[in-house]
Amino acid sequence: MSIIDALLHQPLPLPTLLQAVAGIVTLAVLAYLHRWVWVPYRLSYKNFPGPPSESWLYGVFPSVMKADPGKAHGEWMKEYGYTMWYKGFLGLRDIFRRIIADAENSNGSSDSVDVAYWLGKCTMDVIGLAGFDYDFNSLAVPDNELANAFHEMFSADRQFTLMSILAFVFPPARYIPTRQMRTQWKALAIQERIGNALIQKKKEAVLSGSVEKEGKDLLSIIVRANMDPDLKPTQRMTDTEVLGQITTFFLAGQETSSNALTWCLWQLAQHQDVQDKLREEVAAVGDDYPGMDTLNSLTYLDATVHEILRLMAPVPSTRRDSRVEATIPLANPVKGRDGKMIHEITIPKNTAILMSILNLNTTEDIWGTDAGEFRPERWLNKEQIAGASAVPGGPRACIGFRFAIMEIKAILFVLIRNFVFDLPTPSVEIEKKTSLVTRPFVKGQREKGPQMPLAIRVVS
Ligand code: HEM
Repeated sequence: MSIIDALLHQPLPLPTLLQAVAGIVTLAVLAYLHRWVWVPYRLSYKNFPGPPSESWLYGVFPSVMKADPGKAHGEWMKEYGYTMWYKGFLGLRDIFRRIIADAENSNGSSDSVDVAYWLGKCTMDVIGLAGFDYDFNSLAVPDNELANAFHEMFSADRQFTLMSILAFVFPPARYIPTRQMRTQWKALAIQERIGNALIQKKKEAVLSGSVEKEGKDLLSIIVRANMDPDLKPTQRMTDTEVLGQITTFFLAGQETSSNALTWCLWQLAQHQDVQDKLREEVAAVGDDYPGMDTLNSLTYLDATVHEILRLMAPVPSTRRDSRVEATIPLANPVKGRDGKMIHEITIPKNTAILMSILNLNTTEDIWGTDAGEFRPERWLNKEQIAGASAVPGGPRACIGFRFAIMEIKAILFVLIRNFVFDLPTPSVEIEKKTSLVTRPFVKGQREKGPQMPLAIRVVS
């Protein structure tokens, strides 16, 4: 029996549990003192201006969580400049026709279809097949064991509780059998069982020498590479490490693409002129199922996808941790708390640096005065935007970005060729909320989870 099974099925005796909790709390306090008292005491960049901390535990986190994505950082950028210092928290065409028909049957009107829900299912099917050769078939069959397990892991993660914070900063706390943790363990056990079966199937295919059976999905490629006889044992991934890739592909590749598409349809519903222009381009293609080359040759589709990733950046920020101390010159010097101009910043080893993708993507200095507007045309003149990127580059860059762009293009091609998207009746106010990915919520309906109701009609 694994430790997870044991914890799931046999509650720990109370004294042991209390001792464990006391030990964890002590370690957490020591970690806190080191991270937030000792380390800041030694910091060289404390002279940088920045927003005041609102709470000893959460730092400026409450403002960031409450505000629209990027809003808090945008306002701080105006007040404190481009570099600041603050305390953070501890640190388908036929299928879609049927979907409209279903929506008509279920809520009596195609004036309001929740596109966020269906695009989530669509990108789940895509990442399942392309990522690990697993058919969620979720557009057709809503109830899938693995999909539910991933959903549980996500939604448990979304609960921003003291326990989830502790588990994040102090991994042993993940073994405390709270309800949230038990949900996570159950989901993890399902994911391990199905994932391991997929890995075994791939290994057998490689051993049988059947190239056809091996497949072209990412998992097949990883397993094949990992079984290469020329690989040194130290270079090989363990099965657990390979298994971890499945979750990574799912987490990193599903909601990112579905939210990019959702926000895109929302913008297109508000900009019918852009939607018409896009439809004109995709309708002119003589093939219902074009290949990559044709999709890539559609310049307005390309511009629309880049514009949505810029303006609505599905992942609005990312972070880096410095591995060595470094001194970096500032392109935009900042006035320090002592009134003197600062021209460079010395970042000590092991410092967390937040990079606000959304704020950079919408900075007027880079994008011009219409930075906040949805205007795909800006991408038609590539020279104007040389060097601009919707996701950061470097060794930790998004491995699925090119894949996501093709996926979004292919889905948009089918949707815009066949349907017209408009704002729903009755109208709703959409709010953006971010936990890693920015999702849409209907104002006043937070409890229903992410939603994006839009009116849809078939192109006449
Ligand atoms: C519109 C879609 C997507 C967006 C906006 C997006 C965005 C991002 C961002 C901002 C990062 C952090 C990069 C950094 O810190 O430099 C990232 C990392 C990553 N993405 Fe994506 N992504 C998308 C789609 C995908 C897809 C489809 C996959 C998988 C097939 C994927 C896999 C990953 C992985 C594995 C990482 C971590 C890389 C590392 O830390 O080494 N992403 N993504």
